[in-house]
Amino acid sequence: MSETPGTSEFPYLHGFSEIEQARLVKQAQIAETTIFHDIDYSGAQRLLEVGSGVGAQTEILLRRFPQLHATCVDLSQAQLQAAGRRLGAMPWLRDRYLLQQADATDLPFGPRSFDAAFLCWVLEHVPSPARVLSEVRRVLSPGSPVYLTEVMNASFLLDPYSPNVWRYWMAFNDFQIESGGDPFIGAKLGNLLLAGGFRDVSTRIKTFHLDNREPARRKAMIGFWQELLLSAADQLLEAGKVGNEVVEGVRREMHQVQNDPDAVFFYSFVQARAIVY
Ligand SMILES: C[S@@+](CC[C@H](N)C(=O)[O-])C[C@H]1O[C@@H](n2cnc3c(N)ncnc32)[C@H](O)[C@@H]1O
Repeated sequence: MSETPGTSEFPYLHGFSEIEQARLVKQAQIAETTIFHDIDYSGAQRLLEVGSGVGAQTEILLRRFPQLHATCVDLSQAQLQAAGRRLGAMPWLRDRYLLQQADATDLPFGPRSFDAAFLCWVLEHVPSPARVLSEVRRVLSPGSPVYLTEVMNASFLLDPYSPNVWRYWMAFNDFQIESGGDPFIGAKLGNLLLAGGFRDVSTRIKTFHLDNREPARRKAMIGFWQELLLSAADQLLEAGKVGNEVVEGVRREMHQVQNDPDAVFFYSFVQARAIVY
């Protein structure tokens, strides 16, 4: 199997290919209104974004909160380079962000360096989310709001029933757990924040429940979901978690469901908010 740039940086479920980087941008756009509906950084100026990827959320953060400066850290050079290219092509964002390579479990900043933090789809990939939250708390000033948005993969439902998709989904989640991640971390964010010494902890369950009320949005989401699932296909095949017949079955079933006039797509994730004291 040919190696795409950056895939050997560190084990990572989705990889770092250009297709994956484009998927992150699409993902941020598809979920923007749901993710940002309840996020308020109006009192903040120096935001820390951890696991910023290709800057897909950074662009949204800086557009929605024009007073913010974002310091974006990611472990992957490939992601940071893609973020630099993307954000660099947007002149209105000039001087409003800094991209820095760092491990979220060992942030290269002193205490009180920031007054807000944003983490989205990243704690699910780290072996020690508690350590990341401890680092985030250390570098924030008292009173800073923190928003975490994370997966809760037990919530996924696709109708009509699609056996290869379910087989693949189980393998996908198993593989993430074996790689040190947690595909169910959304449900645990409240406990993690309390144990980490954060205050005013609250959580919201956010759901995509798409059916005949919004057929166009349902179709787009199922198409996007197929890309999300298949972003891990090379790794799952290589690890022997699935065979080619299952991957082909996923393509076939997702195509059928996408074109089914009565399809249902359901997925919930969790957003937590907390304050540092
Ligand atoms: C699914 S992407 C999400 C990117 C971005 N937050 C978004 O929503 O578009 C997860 C990102 O976390 C990064 N990452 C994984 N482990 C990390 C770590 N220990 N420290 C910093 N970044 C990490 C990956 O390189 C990847 O860019």
